[in-house]
Amino acid sequence: MADNIIRTTAGAPWVSNEDSKSAGKRGPLLLENYQLIEKLAHQNRERIPERTVHAKGSGAHGTLTVTHDITKYTKASIFSKVGKKTDMFLRFSVVAPESGGAEAERDVRGVAMKFYTEDGNWDLVGNNTPVFFVRDPIKFPDFIHTQKRHPKTHLHSPTAKWDFWSLSPESLHQVAILYSDRGIPRGYRHMDAFGSHTFSMWNDKGERYWVKFHFKTQQGNEFFTNEEAAAVIAQTRDNAQEDLYGAIEKGDFPRWTLYIQVMEEAEAERVSFNPFDVTKVWSHKDYPLIEVGVLELNRNPENYFAEVEQSSFSPSNIVPGIGYSPDKMLQGRVFAYADAHRYRVGTHYEMLPINRPKFPVKNYHLDGQMRFDEPKNGDGDFYEPNSFDGPVQDLKEAEPPLRVSGDATYYDHRSDGDDYAQPAALFHLFNEEQKQRFYKNFAGDMQGVPQHIIDRQLGHFEKADPEWAEGVRKALNDMKS
Ligand code: HEM
Repeated sequence: MADNIIRTTAGAPWVSNEDSKSAGKRGPLLLENYQLIEKLAHQNRERIPERTVHAKGSGAHGTLTVTHDITKYTKASIFSKVGKKTDMFLRFSVVAPESGGAEAERDVRGVAMKFYTEDGNWDLVGNNTPVFFVRDPIKFPDFIHTQKRHPKTHLHSPTAKWDFWSLSPESLHQVAILYSDRGIPRGYRHMDAFGSHTFSMWNDKGERYWVKFHFKTQQGNEFFTNEEAAAVIAQTRDNAQEDLYGAIEKGDFPRWTLYIQVMEEAEAERVSFNPFDVTKVWSHKDYPLIEVGVLELNRNPENYFAEVEQSSFSPSNIVPGIGYSPDKMLQGRVFAYADAHRYRVGTHYEMLPINRPKFPVKNYHLDGQMRFDEPKNGDGDFYEPNSFDGPVQDLKEAEPPLRVSGDATYYDHRSDGDDYAQPAALFHLFNEEQKQRFYKNFAGDMQGVPQHIIDRQLGHFEKADPEWAEGVRKALNDMKS
């Protein structure tokens, strides 16, 4: 219909958008004024639940261009030849704030990427840090409870945070990064991104490699001090969105260089450390960065809700040539995300334009919420096996078999390796000014935390390096006086 009149969701002309229909000039209103009811009902349904974590975010469209050949490691179509460009969508986020929260907070940043490859969507859902706070998914909900609001006071609770961290020594590495200068990036363009977990790749000979993904910002890593961040938050809660959106609008497209670190499959059994522990990095000397390509963000979304709020990323979305690893956290995440989307967005969330692959998808899923396209016709498309040429499985795309060993039981994840050496190595990279800011960042955030909890955390700093503990102790004393 070429006219320019408002229509109801059923297509009928919208009779009055200024005045409700009432019985007499002074009312009351008529229940039959269904157009008023439709309008009010739609307003009631304008929100979907915000993400339980990473609720505040910014998204942009872009491309990944392959600049170096890695086909000896992977048969993934996205990396099939130098020069290949793949469309993608990326959502940055802060973890703890609600969807209206401030972006210049000290917090980890999320970097979720969806690559629309010829073999389906590959989602790499990482952070701006190469490690994480916990190494067993059963601890993730506990950890997040300490980052969100206290159930009684509805306030953030430094006591809960430091209690949990001081009782979870595996968190020290991520905590050290968070309280360093990297803890408040000056916007999303000015930070690196990581897949964080160990993933796998396999080539067309069926040889598997363990892989870590690194995206180095070409804009340079830049940060806010606590004081600068407080001044920013006093002016705007949306500094990161303003910066990213503004840069892309004026054609200043941010770029990251993609590198991988690679370990041969069999080597994982020989190395002294657990290569599947997300609280650890791999030495760059032993596993040098291999350049792969360039990620560029070059188009802002047309509609924030449709493209950013409804974008749904999941580590379970892999494609032939790229797979998971035995990392326990990654295994937990393979479940958690698609489950979150079915609840938060709806059963057929992957049919939405932002989430769906760029080619028609056939499968035997049937009805349910949001079943709005590709209706089933009846023959050969709603059960399998069938005699009507319905779509069939593709076993040749199975990843190479993975050898596993060991008894199934509850292994103590806290007995798995040294929690102090890598945070100490990071600490030793800081110059004196960086160390002073580091101490103050801890001390500032520990205000009001019971002394026995602070002492327990100081004990971890001490084990990493006595100078670190001493520096924080002194900063705490300075704040008292
Ligand atoms: C077992 C551990 C974890 C669990 C159970 C978990 C679970 C979740 C859930 C339920 C969401 C909200 C999803 C949504 O509603 O759209 C989420 C978001 C997110 N998580 Fe995790 N997470 C875990 C660990 C991690 C780790 C280790 C990273 C990074 C390396 C990470 C990065 C992200 C990012 C970037 C988002 C936001 C995605 C977006 O922009 O839509 N998470 N996580």
